[in-house]
Formats: sequence, structure tokens, C-alpha cells
Amino acid sequence: MILERSPGGRMPADACFLQACIMEAGDGEYVETGVYGGDSLVFVGLVKRFLGHTGKIYGIEKDASRKKKIESTLALYNINAEVIYKSSFPFPLPDLRPVVAYIDGDHTFEGASADWRSLSPITQRFLVCHDYHINPGPTKMIDEVAKADPAWRYVGCSRFTAVFERSDDTVYVGRAIWTTKTEDG
Ligand SMILES: C[S@@+](CC[C@H](N)C(=O)[O-])C[C@H]1O[C@@H](n2cnc3c(N)ncnc32)[C@H](O)[C@@H]1O
Repeated sequence: MILERSPGGRMPADACFLQACIMEAGDGEYVETGVYGGDSLVFVGLVKRFLGHTGKIYGIEKDASRKKKIESTLALYNINAEVIYKSSFPFPLPDLRPVVAYIDGDHTFEGASADWRSLSPITQRFLVCHDYHINPGPTKMIDEVAKADPAWRYVGCSRFTAVFERSDDTVYVGRAIWTTKTEDG
């Protein structure tokens, strides 16, 4: 049911990919840049609720005039998410270690690249980027920045959603520092 008519009219294939990342990553925090009406937050909230996850859900939205709409959408589905009304760059939650992060904020090449640079060092498992193939800024960022980042493996894309998984040979060892695993782990 969620996939047939997900909030925001999300393309089913895109919803499938985001849902698969949430499921595969397991419980933990989620963050997205660009909330707009709160639809993707609701979608993720419903998936995490279904899975019994308790990891907190965060959104970062620079347009504070969206607050009323976002709050009413979240309330409609009884989703508990914290929305920070600031630009995603500089990144306002530097101590967060989300298992999944979703980039869907500033759609310029520079903006999407800034989001990638903020989220690449701190995201533990999946980095999901929207607007692939439909928007030149995110598309260029995915092709030239994300795919060139050695810490990440390009998994593939659905209609408009590109998925990256942290490379198996990297492990978090401290604030925003990832290193190659050694023989003794
Ligand atoms: C495509 S909409 C997000 C849609 C939402 N993720 C969904 O699927 O329901 C993009 C949003 O990003 C916001 N945005 C643009 N630049 C931003 C920035 N630098 N930081 C945070 N939000 C930003 C816009 O105000 C807009 O609400």
C-alpha cells in the first residue's frame, strides 16, 4: 500500500529503492536535506515504524515558511521527526551518524555537491540521491562527485534515485574520519 500511493506521489521505483535502503541499513538515524512538504519524511517514518525502528528521523529545510505545512503532514501520519529550519550547508548536525541519508535539497550542482561533501564522511551505510536524470545539478553531482568518491560504491538507480553504499573496506574510527580496515579489523 505504501508503494502504490506513497505520500508526495513518489514514483514507486524510487520509493522501493529508498525503502530497501532503510530496511537493509537496519535501525539507526535517518537524515534528509530538503523537506518541502514533509512527504519523504512521512514515507521514511512509515517504513521505519513498520520495521519497528526507533532511530530518529531528521530533516533539514532552509525555507522556514514550510514549517506549518510540514508539521501538519507529519501530524496527519503521526510521524515523529525533527526538522531543522536552516540551510544544509554548512551542515547543521555535524555529530549525527545516520545509517541512511537522502539528498534532495538544493538542486544546483554546487548545492548538491555541498550536501554530498557534508554527508559522505558521516553516513554509515547508504547515501541516496534524488533527481538523477531529471535535474542537471544533481545529475552532474552524482556522475562527477559521488561516483568519484572512493568511500562509496554506486549500487544503481531507479527512475530518479541513485543509491550509494559505503565501501566495505572503510570503517568509522572517529569524528568524520573513515579508514581502510586492517587485517585485525
Ligand atoms: C524537491 S524539494 C524536497 C522534497 C522532499 N524531499 C520530498 O520528497 O517530499 C526540495 C526542498 O529543498 C529545500 N532546499 C533548497 N536548498 C536547500 C538548502 N540549502 N538546505 C536545505 N533545504 C534546501 C527547498 O526549500 C525545498 O523545500
